[in-house]
Amino acid sequence: MVRDDVLRALEQHRGTLVSGGTLARELGVSRTAIWKAIASLREMGFPIESISGEGYRLAESSDALSEAGIAMELKTNRMARSLCVLSTVNSTNTYLKERAASLPDGYAAVADCQTAGRGRLGRTFLSPSGSGVYISILLHPTLPLERVNMITVGAAVALCEAIQETAGFEPDIKWVNDVLKNGKKLCGILTEAAMEAETGQLSYAIVGVGINVRQPEGGLPEEIRDIAGCLEDFSPHPVRRNALVAAFFNHMETCLDLIVSGNTEALMDRYRSFIHFLGEPITVIRNGVREAATAVAINSSGHLIIEQNGQQSVMLAGEISIRLPERIR
Ligand code: BTN
Repeated sequence: MVRDDVLRALEQHRGTLVSGGTLARELGVSRTAIWKAIASLREMGFPIESISGEGYRLAESSDALSEAGIAMELKTNRMARSLCVLSTVNSTNTYLKERAASLPDGYAAVADCQTAGRGRLGRTFLSPSGSGVYISILLHPTLPLERVNMITVGAAVALCEAIQETAGFEPDIKWVNDVLKNGKKLCGILTEAAMEAETGQLSYAIVGVGINVRQPEGGLPEEIRDIAGCLEDFSPHPVRRNALVAAFFNHMETCLDLIVSGNTEALMDRYRSFIHFLGEPITVIRNGVREAATAVAINSSGHLIIEQNGQQSVMLAGEISIRLPERIR
């Protein structure tokens, strides 16, 4: 489609003016076709500037999500090699779930806004437009069921690495899979999987991540203001969502390769590099009861080892939650 090709060219020449004639020549279409494509892109909300007699450019400040803008920075073989960018969807996880049988491994849905974003434990995940990005990836991996929980671990690592690369600061992982900075939650991860009843094999998994990039107009909603934060609260520069999304896909492919090949120890090493509370006193919450403990280690299955009264025990995710001391949050 000429419109997508024009957008790709403008993304590639971001910040510099490209004449209608050059675009027409590069894309092998008429100048009228270019003009129509520009009009249609503007109608879709892309801020395209034009200077009479000189040409067009995508505004330097543009943070519009696009397939072209993401694809330009992809270094993957399979991950997100086909993808769709949606301005609004109920939930990117639901979108893929409804299409799981017909879409290929690695297919990704990226949205600017979700009207029914879903979080863990049946919670709602607030997903306003223009301030975050909501991503789901469909996976058909050949993976034993006991390694499925590693997909969420991989997503947490990939998110942290993508944040380091594109937002320029190092986030923390709070066990199990919360990505935080200074105690403020920046991202949420929801992995859903389906199993074939006859064979007991994984038929697909969908890993969904929501990233708060900047404060929405009017600030974060009251109910999450104390617990949530945004990348741009901590980044020394504005964050471009296309670059962030592509970096997430790039790192996610590497993490998934480690999981599928069984090299989970290498993944756990990357995971541990973002964990900053080992050796610290923590509060363990089990069935609503709070107990003091010391965080000792994360084992190769991703379980937390704690120590209480000189006795070590292994904590499974889902059984407990933890609170960290104020000074390392
Ligand atoms: C949580 O922290 O409770 C998990 C939140 C996961 C939100 C993401 S946004 C993209 C994908 N689509 C959804 O409906 N949920 C996940």
